[in-house]
Amino acid sequence: MSDPQRSHSAAGQELRDESDQFVLKCMGDVDLGFNGGEGLHVTDSDGKEYLDAISAEWVLNLGFRNPEVRQAIIDQLDQIDYVSPVFDSDIRTKLAKRIAELAPGRIEKVLYALSGAAAVEGAMHLAMRTTGGSDFVCLDAAFHGRTFATIGLTYVHPGMVEGSNAGLDRYIPRQMRIPNYYCYRCPLGLERESCDLACADFVDFALERGHINGPAGVIVEPLQANGGMIPAPDGWLKKVHGICQDHDVPLIVDEVQGALCRCGPMFASERHGIEPEMIILGKALGGGLPLSATIAVPEYSELLPWEYGFTQAGNPVACAASLAMLELMVRDDLPANSERIGQLMMELLAELEPDSELIGDIRGEGLMIGVELVRDRVTKEPANEEADMVMGACLEHGLIVGRTGPVFGANGNVIKFKPAVNITEDEAVMIVELFGRALRQVEASL
Ligand SMILES: Cc1ncc(COP(=O)(O)O)c(C=O)c1O
Repeated sequence: MSDPQRSHSAAGQELRDESDQFVLKCMGDVDLGFNGGEGLHVTDSDGKEYLDAISAEWVLNLGFRNPEVRQAIIDQLDQIDYVSPVFDSDIRTKLAKRIAELAPGRIEKVLYALSGAAAVEGAMHLAMRTTGGSDFVCLDAAFHGRTFATIGLTYVHPGMVEGSNAGLDRYIPRQMRIPNYYCYRCPLGLERESCDLACADFVDFALERGHINGPAGVIVEPLQANGGMIPAPDGWLKKVHGICQDHDVPLIVDEVQGALCRCGPMFASERHGIEPEMIILGKALGGGLPLSATIAVPEYSELLPWEYGFTQAGNPVACAASLAMLELMVRDDLPANSERIGQLMMELLAELEPDSELIGDIRGEGLMIGVELVRDRVTKEPANEEADMVMGACLEHGLIVGRTGPVFGANGNVIKFKPAVNITEDEAVMIVELFGRALRQVEASL
């Protein structure tokens, strides 16, 4: 992000200097440190307050320091703080049972891990064990993690010499990459009204003819997030699931971002009316603590002893936070809140469009919303630098938004909104108001 030189308080400057000296940074480096948060409000190391429209990297789906999640963490710490994964713990089982109850279809088994990428690898293990194949179908502009197995699934822009996979080719497993469902810029040059979801047919082709070592499964995000905040069009996941069933391979839906009311329902798959064989959960799953999971139907639940696992997977404190979060989401009907406020935000964003030169497309599901900025609505030339400036201007106005990264297949011109799913109407109105101010400021400067 274009990051204006900040002038810091003495404490803020000390944090910055020591961070530069001691922290090896590999996921961007914004000159902004946070040390206090409550709900959607967060304070930087200089004492400035911000409204957080992205749930702190879409991890805190209930906002900062949710009182009930916090209490569950304290209660668990008062009881027991760690249990080896070779033993049982009440809370690990309770959480698995609750996830299985809430999950779509016949999903029953919960394989715990610590990060999204590790959970994707869990799904790869389960799929390979059952099918005997080892090649996966994945999409252009996909993001599934940055471990050695998952970088083969994650798309990295070939033009990015500095991009995250440069020089690692010898470790990357070959996967079958096919066009994505980017309706605003259809890779097949078709129109949604008449395309008959032609891009989904590539799944069939790849499963039939694209593999070398046998197909093991199809892995997709329900809404491509890093790839440009692109929702799968209606019917696409259903069609792809049918193709998977015809080929007897699992559909693995990567809901690391999309689940837990982010796209409306508890699981994004529900929105698309599918019951996939596996779903990947991460990010928000631990209520802010590290926890992820592959959840699977019984026929994709076989592993060899000790072939997979992590010392801290299913940590009781993270499980307690997760369970408290899930119960709150159910009790307060946060799927409905996400749907309602998401709709409101889309409508308010649409009101900015007529007076804006840059807004090209507004799209989303629930509280997972992207605004694509373009220099020209006809040519759709991506407004990358402008998006960067808008993000910087948002910060000046006390608003934290996200932006798609150009490394992972996206152009870097989509502003992301993914606020806490217990957001109020007033907070949503304020987010769009601040964004509108930032957008107008940048447009006036062009
Ligand atoms: C869809 C998706 N899958 C997997 C991952 C990897 O998660 P983690 O960074 O926890 O490994 C991410 C992270 O952004 C993601 O967005």
